[in-house]
Amino acid sequence: MPARKSVAVLISGRGTNLRALIDSTLAADHPARIALVLSNRADAEGLEIAKAAGIETAVIPSKGKERAEFDAILYTVLRAKGIDYICLAGFMRLLTTDFVQAWYGRMINIHPSLLPAFRGTDVHARVIESGTRFTGCSVHFVSPEVDAGPIILQAAIPVPQDATADSIAAAVLEQEHALYPQALRLLAAGRLSIEGQRVRIGQQTA
Ligand code: GRF
Repeated sequence: MPARKSVAVLISGRGTNLRALIDSTLAADHPARIALVLSNRADAEGLEIAKAAGIETAVIPSKGKERAEFDAILYTVLRAKGIDYICLAGFMRLLTTDFVQAWYGRMINIHPSLLPAFRGTDVHARVIESGTRFTGCSVHFVSPEVDAGPIILQAAIPVPQDATADSIAAAVLEQEHALYPQALRLLAAGRLSIEGQRVRIGQQTA
């Protein structure tokens, strides 16, 4: 089996998607390993999940830093660690266009809606207000425009009549935990290619 790809997961909070990614990469045939978990907040609960799994962690406090300054430090840390791919998992910090372009095709994010609908924050309340019958989650490549990059995988669920923002959040999160690991596996196995705004999923080659 070829050497596993090194993945950095960037977080800002509780890290349930991080946990799902860590668990999935424990599989013996997985093409990636999580080499680094990096947070812009020292109090992110996800850091404890990483430590408990024996994964190296790093904190780059973002408060008071210019975007370009933060991203330059981030870039240096990722390069020093030999990172191949980045997964954003609840990372609540906008990245500069320069950084995003440098990692284009190698950085993915999970968003709790069926993109391109409901980009941005406060998604579930807006879903309910809109009257839409379905929602879900999307894993996409990160592009300079927020939540607008090429979509890799999506999962959809119905929005029940009596849904609340919290109930939808919980139902979507469950889908996220299954979807994100699938997308990382495809990415690390080299099975994804970007054609404009579309992502082609190729056959397993090895
Ligand atoms: C998830 O809902 C994800 O879609 C969004 O931020 C949340 C992160 O949750 N980008 P967690 O930290 O992985 O639990």
